[in-house]
Amino acid sequence: MKEKLVEVKNLSKYFNVSGGKLKAVDNISFDIYKGETFGLVGESGCGKSTAGRTMLRLYEPTTGEVNFEGKDICKLSSKEMKEVRKKMQMIFQDPYASLDPRMTVEDIVGEPFEIYGSLKGEERYNRVIELLDIVGLSEEHAQRFPHEFSGGQRQRVGIARALALNPEFIICDEPISALDVSIQAQVVNLLKELQEELGLTLLFIAHDLSMVRYISDRVGVMYLGNLVELTESEKLYEKPLHPYTKALLSAIPVADPDLQKSRNRIKLEGEVPSPINPKPGCRFVDRCQYATDICRNTNPVLEEIEDGHYVACLRVKEINNL
Ligand SMILES: Nc1ncnc2c1ncn2[C@@H]1O[C@H](COP(=O)(O)OP(=O)(O)OP(=O)(O)O)[C@@H](O)[C@H]1O
Ligand SMILES: [Mg+2]
Repeated sequence: MKEKLVEVKNLSKYFNVSGGKLKAVDNISFDIYKGETFGLVGESGCGKSTAGRTMLRLYEPTTGEVNFEGKDICKLSSKEMKEVRKKMQMIFQDPYASLDPRMTVEDIVGEPFEIYGSLKGEERYNRVIELLDIVGLSEEHAQRFPHEFSGGQRQRVGIARALALNPEFIICDEPISALDVSIQAQVVNLLKELQEELGLTLLFIAHDLSMVRYISDRVGVMYLGNLVELTESEKLYEKPLHPYTKALLSAIPVADPDLQKSRNRIKLEGEVPSPINPKPGCRFVDRCQYATDICRNTNPVLEEIEDGHYVACLRVKEINNL
């Protein structure tokens, strides 16, 4: 039996905006197993970052639970939360914005030790150099400032800082999308290596489905605040069951010609609807070629359709001849 590290249960995050309630994340549930990489994908604005931030309580959830090592972190006091935060870190999309330009790399990577008062002086310095080494940088980089680095190097600094306190779990929020294509693979490979060496558990957020497949053990697909499909990454790519996932995947060319042929190109019609005061029923209804009246009236819930393969679609069986 795989051990659950993180359990997200009926988690929602709504923002009050002038037009009403913006349901950025609406009742999502999933588990992340110890040592795995869980990919979270979906179009811009579907709630990926909000989900990640809420899981770390950088945003307070509107409802729901986030169990980490069996404890609901949403119920912890700020003092208890500070302890748990050591184990849960985040790497951000934009290494330009997330590193303080006035701080040297030594101070950036060593900052967590200040916050926790754990290492000082030479010990701190040595650990910083060790961390730089782990991410493929060296001692000579320690006294430099963020602007003196390339985007890829800067992301390595962000990763070193995230590793400082020996976390168990790291949320990587589009860690490569601001980087040149030529260095994206390097940073992804670094994350993969670190995961194996350090036994990390990762939540990897991205739009780019091909990269997510490469790095993830399992993948969850989000659409407008909801989780619509979840399964092992190979399964998702070979046999997507939700109409939205099918459409997303049909846009990516695959090397296998048989698979390519069997995958009808599906064009996503229409715009992503607004997450403000969403209508009841399936959120994908206006863009779905299979939608019928039932889809407009009933909210689909994530159900296990095949072993370990979860789909939230009222017509999933008919559509897939199951
Ligand atoms: N602090 C906030 N206040 C109000 N609305 C917000 C806030 N943060 C996010 N939103 C809204 O919540 C929805 C989800 O945003 P989020 O950033 O989580 O999406 P995303 O999937 O990460 O998108 P991207 O791929 O572009 O990063 C969007 O409609 C966004 O405008
Ligand atoms: Mg985002």
